[in-house]
This record gives sequence, structure tokens and C-alpha cells, in this order.
Amino acid sequence: MRNASGESSASALSPVVGGPAPLTETSVASLRGVGRTYTMGTNQVHALADFSFDFKAGEYWSIMGSSGSGKSTLLNILGCIDRPTAGDYYLAGQHVNSLDDDELSSLRGQALGFIFQSYNLIPQLNVLENILVPVLYRDGVSSTSTARGMALAERVGLAERLDHRPSELSGGQQQRVAIARALVNDPALILADEATGNLDSQTAAEILDLFDELHAEGKTILLVTHEPHIGERTEGRLQLKDGQIADARHGRA
Ligand SMILES: Nc1ncnc2c1ncn2[C@@H]1O[C@H](COP(=O)(O)OP(=O)(O)OP(=O)(O)O)[C@@H](O)[C@H]1O
Ligand SMILES: [Mg+2]
Repeated sequence: MRNASGESSASALSPVVGGPAPLTETSVASLRGVGRTYTMGTNQVHALADFSFDFKAGEYWSIMGSSGSGKSTLLNILGCIDRPTAGDYYLAGQHVNSLDDDELSSLRGQALGFIFQSYNLIPQLNVLENILVPVLYRDGVSSTSTARGMALAERVGLAERLDHRPSELSGGQQQRVAIARALVNDPALILADEATGNLDSQTAAEILDLFDELHAEGKTILLVTHEPHIGERTEGRLQLKDGQIADARHGRA
């Protein structure tokens, strides 16, 4: 069982840009008292409440919990798609609360890789172009980045499909493109929301093997899932309930 708060280690910290320091040096993503409240007329929905946690470099976590427990809200905040209504968020040493929208999208492109249930590829672009989309937003495509895109396509088993459009690929192949795209900027944090939810069990197992390989290479991966068998193969399991941490376990029991 891991303590999610750990306020005591606050003194031994590397400097961060803006705001107070996060609690540990090895944290890729730190949440401190984070809340996300939606106001619906006179009603308030606390999708996340007083949420404090450190995701450290190289960790592989599954995030589980019943429908409405706050998993996507958490992932959206971690992914800088949404902002907290309370508390502080630090990503790759940056105090996210202090960033304006331009700085936020730049940080998003540089520090985060997203993998979605429905792949979210651009239909008009081929495999290589889809993989290079985050590079395009960042500094434009060069011969170096094209070579990197091709190496990643090969890495995920799509070297023979570079000029295929998404509609000319299977679901598993589309998700491989999305994984290569998530890796192209070598992000500090990879976020996946139900990444295998649309795939048959054999293809899902292949995608999970790929995540295992990435984890073994030192990538930091957070995977939202409803599937207990996926929760069993990640090294950390974070269980949410009503926007709070119900349980956090790390290491193979
Ligand atoms: N845009 C919104 N406006 C109002 N309430 C919202 C909004 N988005 C989410 N909520 C509420 O916040 C809570 C958490 O939602 P969230 O989408 O994070 O759940 P989840 O754990 O991802 O669920 P699921 O497993 O169904 O995807 C829910 O009670 C939901 O109704
Ligand atoms: Mg969700």
C-alpha cells in the first residue's frame, strides 16, 4: 500500500518553474489537493476531490474504478486537456496551473503521448504522416523526424504499411499507429484511456505486450481500464471511488 500524500519530504526537492515544488524529485506528474468540480445549475459535481498523488519516472499504472469514479477527469487533467478547479498540478517539472494556453499546448505536445480507445487518427493522412502529426505541431517535419517516424512504424510492426490510410488498416494496426504517434516526441508520460477497449482479445494482448516492452524500456505509462486482467499485469493499480483514491498499490503482490 502506498501513501498518496507524503507531505513530509517537501524539503528535498529540485526547483520547478513557477509555484511551490512537488514532493519528490523523481515525479513525472504530481497532483496536490487537486479538485475538479462541475457546476450544473445549482448542483455541484465533484468529479475529483482533494486528489494528491505522485506518478514517478518509469512507473506503469492502471487506473480503475466504476463508471463515474473520475478516471477520465483525472486523465484529462494529467493530459492538460482540462484544468483543475482546485489544487496544483506539476508535469515534467512545470507548474501547470501557472501556464497560459499556448504554453500548455506546447507542454502537451512535448511531454505527453495520448492513446485513445477509438485511435483518433486523421483519416486523410497515411500511417507515416499520422505518426508525425505531433512533430508537425512542434517544429515541422525534417529528414531526422521522418526517419524517426519510419523507425517507430517498424517498431510497431507497420513498416510495410507506411502509405496506408487508417481506413485501410485493422483496428489493432490503427492502435499501433496511435502508439507510434504517442512515442514520436519521446514524451515524459504516456496516457491511455481504454486503449484496448475496441480490440479483440488476441489483438488486445499484442497491444498490452507492446506496453510491457515500453515499460521495460523505462517509459512512464498510465492506463485507464475496466479490465481486471489488465490491472493485474501493470506494476501499479490505482483504484478510484467518487473522485478520490480508494486504493493505491505498487509492485507485484
Ligand atoms: N462535462 C461535465 N459536466 C458535468 N459533469 C461531468 C462532466 N464530465 C464528467 N462529469 C461527472 O464527473 C464524474 C466523473 O466522470 P468521469 O468521466 O471522470 O468518469 P469515469 O470514471 O471516466 O467513467 P467511465 O468509466 O464511465 O468512463 C461523473 O459523475 C460525471 O457525471
Ligand atoms: Mg471515462
